[in-house]
Parts: sequence; C-alpha cells; structure tokens
Amino acid sequence: MSDLLKKAYDPENFRDQAHRLVDLIADHLEASSSQTDKIVLPWMDPDKRFLKWQKDLGEDFDFEPFWKDTINETIHIHHPKYLGHQVCASLPLSGLGEMLNGTLNNGSAIYEMGPVSTAMERAVIEWLTGAMGFNKEASGVLTSGGSLGNLTALLAARQHQSGYDHWTQGKTDGFHPAIMVSEESHYSVSRAVQIMGWGEKGVIKVPTDKDHKLDVSKLEEVYRNAEQQGFKVMVLVGNACSTSTGSYDPLDKMADFSEKYGLWFHIDGAHGGAAAITPKYKHLTSGIERADSMVIDFHKMLGISALTTAVIFKDGKRSYETFNQKASYLLNNEEREPWFNSATRTMECTKNMMGVKVYSILRTYGPQIFIDYFTECYDLGKVLASLISQSADFELPYQPESNIVCYRYIRSDKSDVELNQLNADIRKKLIESGKFYVVQTTIDNKTYLRSAMMNPFTSETDMEELILEIRMYGQSG
Ligand SMILES: Cc1ncc(COP(=O)(O)O)c(C=O)c1O
Repeated sequence: MSDLLKKAYDPENFRDQAHRLVDLIADHLEASSSQTDKIVLPWMDPDKRFLKWQKDLGEDFDFEPFWKDTINETIHIHHPKYLGHQVCASLPLSGLGEMLNGTLNNGSAIYEMGPVSTAMERAVIEWLTGAMGFNKEASGVLTSGGSLGNLTALLAARQHQSGYDHWTQGKTDGFHPAIMVSEESHYSVSRAVQIMGWGEKGVIKVPTDKDHKLDVSKLEEVYRNAEQQGFKVMVLVGNACSTSTGSYDPLDKMADFSEKYGLWFHIDGAHGGAAAITPKYKHLTSGIERADSMVIDFHKMLGISALTTAVIFKDGKRSYETFNQKASYLLNNEEREPWFNSATRTMECTKNMMGVKVYSILRTYGPQIFIDYFTECYDLGKVLASLISQSADFELPYQPESNIVCYRYIRSDKSDVELNQLNADIRKKLIESGKFYVVQTTIDNKTYLRSAMMNPFTSETDMEELILEIRMYGQSG
C-alpha cells in the first residue's frame, strides 16, 4: 500500500487538517464580520492571478499558508461591505454540511447511494411547499442551481403541454412551441428554451411597466399575436423577483391569465420566491401557490451555501414528466418511478447531498432562521434606498421591493452618456480599491450601480461610507 495513500486516508491526519482549516475559516469570518480585514475583494488582474497560482502549484506543499492565501485572496462574501451579486453570506453551519457532503460523498442518484440525504431532501421540500402555502399534493426535487431548476421545470411543462409525447418524439414539423416571459427575465429562462430547441423565437417577451414588472395589460395582445403567427404558447413565466431590479411580477393576475388559456404557469423565484414564507414580505408573492412549477434558490435568499435549488411542482406528479416517456396522467402509481430515485427527476445523476445542508439548518435553528435572514436583507434594501434618495447627487430609478437596489451618481455637467461612463469608472475604482463590492446594470439605456444586500450584518454606517466613497470617485471622475 502506498504511504501517500495511507497518509491521505489516515483519520487522525484528517482530524488535524479539519481542525486547522476550520480555525482558519473561523478566523476569516471573524476578521470579515468585524472588518479588521478591510478588503472585500483583493483585486488582481486575472492573468497575473493565474500565473501566481500556476507557480504555486509547483511549490512544496505547506498546509497553512496555502489555505490562508486561498481565503485571503478571494472575494469575501461575508464582509459587510460586500454589496454585489446575489450569493448569500452563507450560514457557517451550511459549510459544515458541505464538509460532510464531501467526505461521505454519497452520490444520491438513487436511494441506496444517498439514503439519508434522499429522505432529508423530501422532508425539506415538503416543509418548503407547506410553508409557502402550496397544498399537500405539491412536491419537487433539489437540484444544482436556478438555471438547471428552470430547465427542469420547463422540460416538465413541455411534456405536459405538448399534447403528445414530446420527450420521445421530439419537436414535430409545423409545431412551434413558445413561452411568454417578461423582458426582465433571467437569461437562464431563454437559455432553457433554446436548449429545448425552440430557438430565440420560442421566447416571446412581454413588455414591462414603469415599475419593471410584466405589464399584464399587454398579455392578451402578445398572446394573440403569437398564436396568429403560428406559435403554440405553452408556458407563462413570472419573475419573483427579476434579477436586474428585484421587481415582482403580478403573479396572481398572471395565474388568472394562465388558467384562462390553459397555460403552464412557471415562476422563477430563484432570488425572491422565499418571500412567501416571511410574514413581512409574503404580500409580494401573492398567487405564488397557483404556479404549476417554480424554482427557489436556497443559496440566494435562504443562507445555504451554493448550489441548492428547490424545483417545486404544485402537482408533485408533474415532476416525473421531466425526463419521462409518458405524461404522468398516463402513468399509474406502480408504473411511475419511485420518488426516492432522484436521478429520474433531475438532470443530475450523481448529485450532492443538498438535503443535508438545508435539513441541518432547519433542525438546528428552525424555520425562523430563514425568515430572519430574508427579512433582514430585504429591510436593508429599504435602508439603502432611503439613504440614496436623501443624497441630491444620486439617482434612485425606482423604489426597491426587494434587497436589490440600483442607483447612480449624477452630475449636472455630464450628459447621460457621460454619466454611464462615469458610473462604470466609479465601480471599477471601487472594486479595485477592495473596500466595497458592487455590480452594475443597465436600465433604460442608463448604467446604474447595483447592490444586492446579501449580508444581514451590513450596517447603515457601511452604506453611508459607500455613498461617500462613490461621491469621492464621482466628483473627481
Ligand atoms: C431570477 C433568477 N433566476 C435564475 C438565476 C440563476 O440561478 P443560478 O445562479 O442558481 O443558476 C438567477 C441568478 O442570479 C436569478 O437571479
């Protein structure tokens, strides 16, 4: 037996490594949250960074410096001045779930390969559907990410709505299926449609209103035009909420429309669908329980480490249609695959023990932890918006409904085009300084800075400092 293998598998060696690594992670969490570490993203040019790590690969292995550099040199999502993309400041316990996942390595494609995570997965899905107000027929699966989740749900919709066995026969001549979705939808929705082979034309965009929500008054006209052009509209997709501006589509009215025309109603709730479980923000998702399918990312607004996405079906039987030859209404219970073989319902064969991560959080802290995380982050969106609107040299293009806030620095001596450049420059300087991390987006051809408030420990003082920093770059730019 190789000495190297013996050492690598030695439980005492692992115990020592794990303790040392957990200490480093805890030190990092402490330094980030207390801001003794001032840097959110230690900026380095990508090519330079690649060369550094390529060289490092040839060095003698030294446990602690290597892990320390890995932690120090990367982006620090748990830093209160991280105000960027929609990845949660994960609950540390969820990271320990990852460690268990990685060391037990239960593939979980079929029951025997992950019996506990399979059972936990069902328990957490049933908890979630209940908490969101779905009836007891609802169920679903966990999968790796909202993009895969949207594809999984749309495949089930396709099989159910086509009127023939689409999975086996493929797209038939003269059949032009399509979905309708707001022009603000996440690209993963149109990507899913194009993966299904419906082309760009298969994604029919519905205009949005001044609040960036799907304009329901346009639905009828867009639908009729599409049908007249020979499309079979099968699915209507709602945003809960949209990525760019965090706006919630009018889900109840969209559910009415879907019922009227027999459409499958899918909700992309990757970011904000979980509002439905919070007393304070559930009004935003009114009608969500009427969706035929929806996705919710636990790794966005529920504090679980990436990737962990719930794909929910109002009628749980539909989830068997995604990769099945027959529509579920044609199958009796004996013919249908058993619930506990997850691979029959997800793209993934081998998959992570996602259920364990969610279950461990529910089991340790109870559902209130999700409500607190979500609510506090959404509240912070309101605080930032209020500070921005009190600053005369800033523009707030809309009142945020969620924790996604867009804003820009303005100067009367600059045109709109110049302001676009100025704000892009401000962001570049801001992130290169390492002190804050924000992103940018375009709304109505204008460049805005964009912050998703993902860390409940971000304070009003952090936001005031952000405004000062932006102003400093804005005035000198
Ligand atoms: C609304 C929405 N849907 C889907 C996705 C994709 O989710 P994931 O990154 O988990 O694949 C995102 C990601 O930001 C999103 O905002």
